[in-house]
Amino acid sequence: MDTIIAIRSRRSVRKYLNKEISKEILEDIVDCGRLAPSGYNEQPWIFVVVVDREMKEKVAEATTSGKFIRDAGACIAVFCKKTAETALEDASAATENMIISAQAYGLGTCWINVYKKSHSPKIKEILNCPEDMELMTLIAIGYPAEEPKTPPKKSLNEVLRWNKF
Ligand SMILES: Cc1cc2nc3c(=O)[nH]c(=O)nc-3n(C[C@H](O)[C@H](O)[C@H](O)COP(=O)(O)O)c2cc1C
Repeated sequence: MDTIIAIRSRRSVRKYLNKEISKEILEDIVDCGRLAPSGYNEQPWIFVVVVDREMKEKVAEATTSGKFIRDAGACIAVFCKKTAETALEDASAATENMIISAQAYGLGTCWINVYKKSHSPKIKEILNCPEDMELMTLIAIGYPAEEPKTPPKKSLNEVLRWNKF
């Protein structure tokens, strides 16, 4: 799929078909994530791909707004070194790369709020997160079982300025 089409057509998907995602596709999605830009090229990330049903259920249960992970083919948790100066930007760049590449594979995704939230320690514990790493983002991925609605988006005119405010 053309990149621009993938970006334009992506919407968050929260309902998934009961269909496995191949290891090859998941690996390629993570490969697109690890090629993202990062501050000082530190690449401070580790990507944990959860496909095991029980593990997915545990992660889903631990979230406050991602219970639908239970029905997703996989979820990917992005961890970064706590010491990385631009960890949040790095993780976000990698996350968006993975979201767009998943879209190109005909998969639906939803970013789930896990950065320094009250439920984050539980997810870190489930996934065996080492002490020196932080949980940055979590993405649910699966073959879509819904045609997601386009939420209201600001128009280009509302958000674009040329040269100065
Ligand atoms: C940082 C971040 C955190 C998000 N957290 C959640 C979440 O916890 N649960 C959820 O259902 N959607 C979550 N979303 C998805 C947003 O709700 C969604 O991107 C937004 O409504 C725009 O819709 P769209 O993705 O279809 O364009 C999150 C998105 C971002 C970028």
